[in-house]
Amino acid sequence: MNYYAAKTRYENMTYRRCGQSGLKLPAVTLGLWYNFGGIDSFENARAMVRRAFDLGITHFDLANNYGPPPGSAEENFGRLLSQDLGSYRDELIISSKAGYLMWPGPYGEWGSRKYLVASLDQSLKRMGLEYVDIFYSHRPDPETPLEETMGALDFIVRSGRALYVGISSYDPEQTRRAATILQNLGTPCIIHQPRYNMFDRWIEDGLLDVLSAEGIGCIGFSPLCQGILTDKYLEGVPENSRAGKWKDQLTWGDAVSKERIAKVAKLNELAKARGQSMAQMAIAWVLRHKQMSSALIGASCLNHIEDAVAALTNLDFSTKELKAIDSILE
Ligand SMILES: NC(=O)c1ccc[n+]([C@@H]2O[C@H](COP(=O)([O-])OP(=O)(O)OC[C@H]3O[C@@H](n4cnc5c(N)ncnc54)[C@H](OP(=O)(O)O)[C@@H]3O)[C@@H](O)[C@H]2O)c1
Repeated sequence: MNYYAAKTRYENMTYRRCGQSGLKLPAVTLGLWYNFGGIDSFENARAMVRRAFDLGITHFDLANNYGPPPGSAEENFGRLLSQDLGSYRDELIISSKAGYLMWPGPYGEWGSRKYLVASLDQSLKRMGLEYVDIFYSHRPDPETPLEETMGALDFIVRSGRALYVGISSYDPEQTRRAATILQNLGTPCIIHQPRYNMFDRWIEDGLLDVLSAEGIGCIGFSPLCQGILTDKYLEGVPENSRAGKWKDQLTWGDAVSKERIAKVAKLNELAKARGQSMAQMAIAWVLRHKQMSSALIGASCLNHIEDAVAALTNLDFSTKELKAIDSILE
């Protein structure tokens, strides 16, 4: 069936400026890490992307390796662009990244100019795009000079492959250095994509201050800690959940531990008192920082996207609520 985007799509979403750039991002962004790959239902992926755009989510986040198999999320997104969203290209912010293992040999991962440029060319081909809106160095490379990695990002913008560039998971000092190098090259770093949620608060320890000082926006990934910060695991691990399907293979050290779930049960009571679902409170909590341009969520069904967008109607926290959350998380 032909897709025509909802006329109401800009009525309820809020857009936040990304650092000191001219770019505004929706407060909620949809990431295609899980559930959009070759092993997943294409029709479900399609329904989620359509619903997201209908709700004002203009930003879709990808990476070369999303799938599985690696590359297939970009291929599927390319199909969606050609079938559904192509005529809306100028209303979309599409990002991709390179940094993790994508092909064998010494040029298939990390941060060399050789890898980053080749990988982005592959991503563009898979998505059928002439350019991405944001391209990221997905992780810092301890061996490649930062000047080379940032030089590659500058080249990528100048050659028309990306409009903006960013970095992901760089620590505060690496971020400061990367920002300076890019500034000197004349291609500002406009965005940092760190992991941030109630169980992983590392960005509060210096990174947010660096982002403010450098005028860089922030898009926090995994605000729900891969689903653990929702009510879905309170009564055990459902088979069709991410933890159920991937067992103990969840990345970033995430586990549905008894200790965490006991905390989520308490947080869930607080969320109820705020008139929110647990997921909504977790998203609102991430968005409480002025530097946070967007919360980068994942979803496996339409409800997850609707739930996240509805969180935007209640983003305020009292000091008492924030203290209560801190004491549960201690
Ligand atoms: N830069 C990086 O290194 C990096 C790393 C990781 C991720 N990311 C980006 O961040 C995006 C989001 O990551 P994420 O998927 O871990 O985010 P997340 O929002 O923390 O977790 C999403 C998962 O939580 C569950 N969920 C979502 N809403 C729910 C709700 N209302 N109720 C119950 N369960 C709910 C779903 O899992 P079920 O399958 O259990 O339903 C969903 O797939 C990725 O797609 C990617 O774009 C970037």
